[in-house]
Amino acid sequence: MTSPTRPVEAERVSRSITFRRGTPEDEPDTFEVMRRAMGSDISWSQHVRARRHLRSAPNSSYWVAEDTPRFGRSRIVGYAHSIVRDGVWQLTEFFVLSAYQRQGIGRTLLRCCLQDGEEAGASSRFILASYHPAADSLYIRLAGCFPRLPMLLLGGQVESLHPHSSHGPILDTLTPPSSLNPDSSEAPLLAEPVEAKPATLAILDHLDRTILGYTRLPEHLHWIAETGGPEGAARLFRRADGGTKAGEPVGYAYYGPLSTGPFLALNPADLPRMVLHVLHVAKLHPRMSGHLTRVEPYLAIPGCNEVMLQWLLGCGWRIVFQYLYMSSHPVPKLEHYVCHNPLHFF
Ligand SMILES: CC(C)(COP(=O)(O)OP(=O)(O)OC[C@H]1O[C@@H](n2cnc3c(N)ncnc32)[C@H](O)[C@@H]1OP(=O)(O)O)[C@@H](O)C(=O)NCCC(=O)NCCS
Repeated sequence: MTSPTRPVEAERVSRSITFRRGTPEDEPDTFEVMRRAMGSDISWSQHVRARRHLRSAPNSSYWVAEDTPRFGRSRIVGYAHSIVRDGVWQLTEFFVLSAYQRQGIGRTLLRCCLQDGEEAGASSRFILASYHPAADSLYIRLAGCFPRLPMLLLGGQVESLHPHSSHGPILDTLTPPSSLNPDSSEAPLLAEPVEAKPATLAILDHLDRTILGYTRLPEHLHWIAETGGPEGAARLFRRADGGTKAGEPVGYAYYGPLSTGPFLALNPADLPRMVLHVLHVAKLHPRMSGHLTRVEPYLAIPGCNEVMLQWLLGCGWRIVFQYLYMSSHPVPKLEHYVCHNPLHFF
């Protein structure tokens, strides 16, 4: 356990509350804080791997607030976690138990993560925020992050997804063509499994830098470990050039039993066929096909992504949660993007 400290920001907080860096042993308790603060029925199995990655990821900051009453055992009552990638700071979790809110605990935790971010050289910040007045007010005042864009989480049935009007064929290096690919005048895309090879990682970095403005190699390695390789549904897409040369990379898509996304396409009109393709590939894998029939997937869509919102809502999908993209800088090109879900990551 790391030693408790009393940051200067904690002057308003009760003396029984101490702050310290989180450890792997704090996982069950901090998950319980998240579950209770969100007030929703979230499952440990769906979150555990993403959380484990974040706890051991480089350039991450993890702080917990602990209440030690005069009598009785101490307990974790709040925590915050953030990462820095390529000079960009992101808050990934931020929760305080309701009985302990409005006492300055959240403010202190957030300050600790922001200070670590500054020390790691972050020059810009963003947060996927719930519409929560106290949280959003702290993000504006302490992190300089302003509400820029609504984000929507949509859920629905895979079977209800019909091809988008611009849906052209996708030729996969491993799987037979999808019956969902109609004859189309659209240029075909080539799809290959995403693997942790230097050449592939360089392509992913290039695509991220082009659309998002920064790179995040540790997260790609995590997503590839979870959903990539020949046994996974994750795909890198190239525009077929008709010749023998490998076509130009135009996007990527991750999909696994515990997560959906992220999806990125240089041409937003390609996103629906990329989504349909990885769902098609997943159906062919015994490990994932059962999951697809049991669990409705969710897709986390930026409000400016008109193609995906029109398509999914037109297929009968429902908006199940709304949140905000808040940042210290203007929004990147999120009309080309679908976020990761669960929402720990971008
Ligand atoms: C968000 C959360 C972590 C904040 O923790 P907290 O310990 O209550 O935060 P603090 O008491 O340190 O600060 C709350 C601040 O919000 C301010 N605030 C509260 N309601 C507000 C409102 N309607 N408008 C503006 N500011 C408001 C308070 O005045 C306080 O600011 P101050 O310290 O300058 O007085 C906590 O409320 C929580 O867990 N909420 C539910 C989960 C959630 O939404 N998490 C965020 C995920 S993105």
